[in-house]
Amino acid sequence: MTITERPPELNGESYMRLALQLAESAAGQTASNPVVGCVIVKGGRIVGMGAHLQRGHHHAEVHALLMAGSEAAGSTVYVTLEPCSHFGRTPPCCDRLIAEKVKKVVVACLDPNPLVAGTGVERLRAHGIEVEVGLLEEEAKRLNERFFKYIVHGMPFVTLKTACTLDGRIATKTGDSKWISNGESRKYVHTLRHRHQAIMVGVDTIIADDPQLTTRLDVPALHPVRIVADSKLRIPLDSRVVRDGEAKTIVLTTKQASLEGIRRLNAYGVEVMRCGDGPQVDLRLAMRMLAEREISSVLLEGGGRLNGAMLEAGLVDRVVLFIAPKLVGGEKAPPAFNWAGVERMKDALKLERLSVTTYGDDLCVTGYPVYPDGWGEPSSDGSAGKRETPVTPAAKEEISDVHGIG
Ligand SMILES: NC(=O)c1ccc[n+]([C@@H]2O[C@H](COP(=O)([O-])OP(=O)(O)OC[C@H]3O[C@@H](n4cnc5c(N)ncnc54)[C@H](OP(=O)(O)O)[C@@H]3O)[C@@H](O)[C@H]2O)c1
Ligand SMILES: [Zn+2]
Repeated sequence: MTITERPPELNGESYMRLALQLAESAAGQTASNPVVGCVIVKGGRIVGMGAHLQRGHHHAEVHALLMAGSEAAGSTVYVTLEPCSHFGRTPPCCDRLIAEKVKKVVVACLDPNPLVAGTGVERLRAHGIEVEVGLLEEEAKRLNERFFKYIVHGMPFVTLKTACTLDGRIATKTGDSKWISNGESRKYVHTLRHRHQAIMVGVDTIIADDPQLTTRLDVPALHPVRIVADSKLRIPLDSRVVRDGEAKTIVLTTKQASLEGIRRLNAYGVEVMRCGDGPQVDLRLAMRMLAEREISSVLLEGGGRLNGAMLEAGLVDRVVLFIAPKLVGGEKAPPAFNWAGVERMKDALKLERLSVTTYGDDLCVTGYPVYPDGWGEPSSDGSAGKRETPVTPAAKEEISDVHGIG
């Protein structure tokens, strides 16, 4: 006897699950836009399906409505994010749904932007369309966690990915780090790269490993923007991220960086951003500056010191930790999270919503840090408090841009 998972029943949840799958299939290709899926059902048949595939292209509802054609009238629409209600370059999705005379709209979650949340639903109801909100809401929110952080806080969502040995080291005492995790784990990392807009490392990782930081999969995939934290421009000019031209590279630095050094990097097409005038890159300011450039997600790939500094500043949203069943020992072998640390165990930074999976014989633990009040330092730009950033220009722009482009 083989025991398998029960096949899904046909109900509203199964249609919404399909819409979520459609949305998820576009993860990584919508830039700073959310991923959204839509399924239209009428008389017991799916008559339209769609996903938002690319910023500036049709929203999911429009794709699905186009497929449904005249069948849209009297149908039930399952959509993973509240339909937009603001005019941009084309009429908002709400107006399309109203014009097509759909009967009912089932929404998984409301738009996170406090300036627009609920307005789409209100508009539909005002036109006599039945609206239900909250079906598979948690899944829908998780799917767009990057977009939600970016829109509400004006900061990129940061996934810290690292691979360490069972004794928590990311290299041996001689600095050898190839390879800690197995091929299966490393393959999955390339999918993570495809799904983030930027990838970030500390300059010592560039010096030690000269990584390409591109996405290499069996199918064509998107390269993230490569970001290097380098306060004094120590990055070697012959490193791959400077020379290979495979993807855009941005070096985050400080006022200490010489104009000459900046010019040399610019000559290779590398952009240099000065983030603060302190001894090291002001990471909070750097994240804010990246968000202003519409980078809504960052995959932080170490090394240990940058990982530690990002955690210490409260800037990491999710941790993906690959643990290989190896022990390397050595006091000098670098740890995965290198920071000053807390004094008491009760002050440890905890992770919640843990999930554990395996890639071959590697363990992969994913969790979300829960920062206690006051964790993270105020930025040198004078702004304080890491989680209370008010609605930002990015959020305001969403009204005319993210949800305005048809
Ligand atoms: N297993 C893995 O997944 C993995 C991944 C990556 C790296 N590694 C290994 O990790 C080792 C390198 O790690 P590492 O910890 O020595 O170096 P790192 O984290 O790659 O780079 C640290 C450097 O980043 C710069 N930086 C700029 N702003 C900073 C800030 N605000 N806070 C902290 N650092 C800042 C600093 O140099 P400046 O002060 O000059 O700016 C600092 O020395 C290598 O052996 C590499 O092979 C392993
Ligand atoms: Zn829309």
